[in-house]
Amino acid sequence: MTQMSDRWDEYADSYAEWSSRQTLPYAKHALDLVNIGERAKILDVATGDGAFALEAAARHPTSSIVAIDYSSAMIDILDERIKERGLGAIISTKVGDAQALDFPNDSFDCVAVVFGLFLMTDGLQCLQEIHRVLKPGGTLVFTSWGQTFVSDLVFGALLAIDPEAAMKRVLFKCTNVAKPGTWNNHDWIREKCLNAGFGSPEIHVVSHPTQVHVNEKDSFAKMLGGGPGIRFLMRAEGWTEENSKRVEEGLAVALNGLFDSGVENVYLVSSANVVICKNE
Ligand SMILES: C[S@@+](CC[C@H](N)C(=O)[O-])C[C@H]1O[C@@H](n2cnc3c(N)ncnc32)[C@H](O)[C@@H]1O
Repeated sequence: MTQMSDRWDEYADSYAEWSSRQTLPYAKHALDLVNIGERAKILDVATGDGAFALEAAARHPTSSIVAIDYSSAMIDILDERIKERGLGAIISTKVGDAQALDFPNDSFDCVAVVFGLFLMTDGLQCLQEIHRVLKPGGTLVFTSWGQTFVSDLVFGALLAIDPEAAMKRVLFKCTNVAKPGTWNNHDWIREKCLNAGFGSPEIHVVSHPTQVHVNEKDSFAKMLGGGPGIRFLMRAEGWTEENSKRVEEGLAVALNGLFDSGVENVYLVSSANVVICKNE
């Protein structure tokens, strides 16, 4: 569809290996916080391999769920999971752009975007589209990464490849707590929700550990360092293009350092904002 969706296509398998530990805990948290009634119509935007859609289907078997993503490789993986779990009567999938939703006005009771908005070229446009397709009184729930997105490990990666840049990152983190103009900043989140026509959002800051076994360190470094998501975040933090390409290599060094002490598992803590708003 686009150059960016091609990058997500290439990365889909690596992403899908980790999503149950990396994003599913937050998708579950989002579902805990929204009220979903009988026979609800739900849209999962930027579904990836379907963390939110699959969990919503398991919890709300009378609902009907549409899951969309612009990466056809992600949708192929999700289709396989839907088949394996026998959820074909509840979830349908579609390749599509989150910023131009191909649905009529007032179609859904609930729309979710789990770790998608911050990646869009125009997140506000996506929110406006969601507002259009949500029924009056419907609920939007979305997540964005918080201040500690495996932060110490990313510091370790940078330390391995560019110590001076690592120090700059510490200074950045100390002086840009929830940098204005990013989906980690609560004032920014509030402003975008209100501008898209929603009521004032509730923002919950939550945190989960991801368990990584020593035998999985290369797979984790590839997932975390090799994807379009981390590169996007690193550019927003001012990393050089060259360093952002080498982050997987730096992560491998940092993870080796972590496992040097002989532990079998490490627990890497991330945090996220879970945002709920109503179409009033
Ligand atoms: C970090 S993944 C999140 C996937 C899933 N929601 C989860 O929580 O595991 C981001 C997803 O957003 C999708 N995406 C990014 N921009 C998009 C757009 N404009 N339209 C549709 N999908 C998009 C990517 O293809 C990718 O699958």
